[in-house]
Amino acid sequence: TAAPVITVDGPSGAGKGTLSHMLAERLGWHFLDSGALYRVTGQACLIEGVSWGDEAAVAAVARHLEVSFSAADSGEILVAYKGCDISRDIRTEEGGRGASTVAAIPAVREALLQRQREFRRPPGLVADGRDMGTVVFPDAPLKLFLTASAGERARRRYDQLLAKGENVSLPRLLEDIEERDARDRSRPVAPLLPAEDAVVIDSTAIPVAEVFAMAMREVAAKG
Ligand code: C5P
Repeated sequence: TAAPVITVDGPSGAGKGTLSHMLAERLGWHFLDSGALYRVTGQACLIEGVSWGDEAAVAAVARHLEVSFSAADSGEILVAYKGCDISRDIRTEEGGRGASTVAAIPAVREALLQRQREFRRPPGLVADGRDMGTVVFPDAPLKLFLTASAGERARRRYDQLLAKGENVSLPRLLEDIEERDARDRSRPVAPLLPAEDAVVIDSTAIPVAEVFAMAMREVAAKG
């Protein structure tokens, strides 16, 4: 039988990454950052001189994506395209825009589907994304959907970027987040919606340690 999967879906900035890492670490399971695959696809297009609007060419880039993930000594996950480290480039706001633009192309999602499923290996997988529970791992025994208000998500993102030394404006970030949410929710393929059987957690007013405790109670309840 297939290895177990915990899917963690939700809008950007809701704390999915942090929660997923904590779950994977506590359980000793593998981790899939599916957003990184879309971000790498967007960045690879910039590198290859392919316009994000050229759907057929972007899909070809996604199909042949030479991407690799590795852990740095700091624990940070490094992302390489054709052997070159692009970890920083894909985490910028432009990287986010590129990811969300190419993610709206059905042929790109199709190209990345199998690649994502390959991360499912024993003893288990924690999969972070937008459609992990609805499309990629519909049979996952535990599906979490993590949300938070747009204002709170913008504030968290602002603090993260400031800490990385990026020059950002809070109103601009809020605008970006709302625009990206609207695009992710309204796209015809794999729109951002909780799976019918997902446990929805609103983290707006809840500290991350408590969100983690709630998630671990769900894990325990599943046996
Ligand atoms: O999670 P992250 O912010 O890195 O994702 C970047 C973008 O990639 C999202 O805004 C979304 O458009 C897209 N994405 C997606 N499906 C996923 C993960 C990410 O469409 N499973």
